[in-house]
Amino acid sequence: MSTVVIVGTQWGDEGKGKIVDFLTEKADLVARYQGGNNAGHTVVINNEKYILHLIPSGILHKGKRCIIGNGVVIAPPALIKEIDDLKGKGIDVDDNLLISKNAHVIMPYHMAIEKENENRKGNKKIGTTGRGIGPSYTDKIARHGIRVMDLLSPNAFKEKISANLSTINFLLESLYKTAPLKADEIYDEYMRYAERLSRYIADTDVIINKQIDSGKNVLFEGAQGTLLDIDHGTYPFVTSSNTIAGGACTGLGVGPTKINKVLGIAKAYTTRVGEGPFPTELKDELGESIRQKGGEFGATTGRPRRCGWLDMLILKHAIRINGLTGIALTKLDILDGMDKLKICIGYKYNGNLCEEFPKEIEILENCEPVYEEVDGWMESTLGIKEFDRLPANAKRYIKKIEEMLKTEIQIISTGQKRDEIIVLKEQF
Ligand code: GDP
Ligand code: IMO
Ligand code: MG
Repeated sequence: MSTVVIVGTQWGDEGKGKIVDFLTEKADLVARYQGGNNAGHTVVINNEKYILHLIPSGILHKGKRCIIGNGVVIAPPALIKEIDDLKGKGIDVDDNLLISKNAHVIMPYHMAIEKENENRKGNKKIGTTGRGIGPSYTDKIARHGIRVMDLLSPNAFKEKISANLSTINFLLESLYKTAPLKADEIYDEYMRYAERLSRYIADTDVIINKQIDSGKNVLFEGAQGTLLDIDHGTYPFVTSSNTIAGGACTGLGVGPTKINKVLGIAKAYTTRVGEGPFPTELKDELGESIRQKGGEFGATTGRPRRCGWLDMLILKHAIRINGLTGIALTKLDILDGMDKLKICIGYKYNGNLCEEFPKEIEILENCEPVYEEVDGWMESTLGIKEFDRLPANAKRYIKKIEEMLKTEIQIISTGQKRDEIIVLKEQF
């Protein structure tokens, strides 16, 4: 038996969905531990594209139990739409999906507040996905959040909405000069959602731990990436949850002693959506060509992703913070046909060389990346399934990264499809 945490090592969109889907073949249960429908995890099977936002990417395999854990914030209309879309494509959701009673619910006022907050920040905005993620986690920490289990107690639910709206409407009307929200309307709307979702609600921590204790293989699916972590990311340009591997413990109710492996997903280059520092960003034609070739447009918002070179300081930070036991390197094929490739090995700032990822936004915004240049390869790596068949320089690129990071690259992804992958070390 084994448990494996799947965690993004960069700013999200590393290809977590594809790797989770691939590993689900040998897993018995897949559980999402944080984030909400800000995430967009793309899985391509037989030319059909699925984008998962809340439901674990394991759902596309028949008969695998999928859990949305307590650390996730759930927007009921988004979840219902996702369930319906999957069912429409013949996926059996009803028998496999469970939702934690303790997960928090995204309410309409969370979206309204986020929109106003972002507008008021002007050019200092975070560039959020606009899904109400931040305000929902804020309510959770402030202890007036609404949880999934509240949907099952209509009277208490109604009281909670009214209590929250008494302050939120004051904010909306007096400060933001927007229309107040009506408790009755929200109540009616959410009771309809409750009717649809009640069948999935469960004590998911008990179920997950039973599976682990009975020797099953369990995957923990993270959303976003290490640099979007609320504590260890590029604060304040982050999301509002612990995206790192430790989030799997708090976000599912699984003790740290039950985690066996932590697989970090790293794109062979770097991307970021939204605002915030990005030292190796390519603001030129090369960046644009990687964006086009890599299809680097947000799976949730469609926004163009900013693209840049691979950054060792970021990956070393991710190895440290997550305790990675291995790396899955994705989108290698997107680097095909490039004469030279650059790997960032340090940042120059104020005459000093930083070799570890700095905590200060000021340094990240104003540093100059130091690169090691390596030869690229002209051959196609798309769909290659064996390491030995990779072009010599692609092998060198991978070996170089491994040496610099002192961490094994255990999986290499060479295309969007499920079987476009090289497995150097099994996870289960
Ligand atoms: P996630 O949020 O980490 O699951 O990643 P996204 O789904 O947002 O973005 C990754 C994108 O890259 C998706 O469109 C995937 O289908 C695609 N992808 C994943 N791995 C590979 C790969 O090895 N090669 C190529 N060409 N595309 C990939
Ligand atoms: P997956 O799971 C990439 C970014 C947003 C914004 C910041 C805060 O697909 O990798 P939020 O709406 O969470 O308050 O936005 O985080 N962001 C992501 N970027 N991939 C994601 O998820 C993201 N989820 C949020 O663009 O910069
Ligand atoms: Mg994504």
